[in-house]
Amino acid sequence: MAILRIYHYPEPVLRQVAEPVTVFDEALATLARDMAETMYAAPGVGLAAPQVGISKQLVVLDCARADAPAELIFAVNPAIVDSEGEVSEEEGCLSVPGYYARVSRSARVKVRGHDLSGQEVEWEAQGLLAIAFQHEIDHLKGILFVDHLSPLKRSLFRKKWQRLQEQQLEQL
Ligand code: NI
Repeated sequence: MAILRIYHYPEPVLRQVAEPVTVFDEALATLARDMAETMYAAPGVGLAAPQVGISKQLVVLDCARADAPAELIFAVNPAIVDSEGEVSEEEGCLSVPGYYARVSRSARVKVRGHDLSGQEVEWEAQGLLAIAFQHEIDHLKGILFVDHLSPLKRSLFRKKWQRLQEQQLEQL
């Protein structure tokens, strides 16, 4: 297992539409396990392959409460096939560290995809897991959570992001 480098906004790979997975081999399983380890180490509740520089339709998720057993999900080629309700929660992203904002999402989603062996799987999600599925599936389309903000909030984000980058450079 290995901890992978997480790509940060505005790396171009985060803007690519990820390729569907067609080969369900050991390399895919290894990538998925490494992504899970990277997510737990960060720590985060979800990670999509483009965030580790690999433009493939693979996401890992674990939205279990901190004091509950792990609920690790590997979703290959995931797509939302049904959704209902609306929620608005504060989100963050391992590719946009240090920035958080409220985003409107569906409250419940049904997701169809494959597991690591290529079997078709369907997930029904609500609460944090529903939000995380939508956030991670967005990554596979080259969409970041900040893209859902109003134009005003997006321009505030860009300014704040620039400031954060400058602070990091000063600390180097
Ligand atoms: Ni993210």
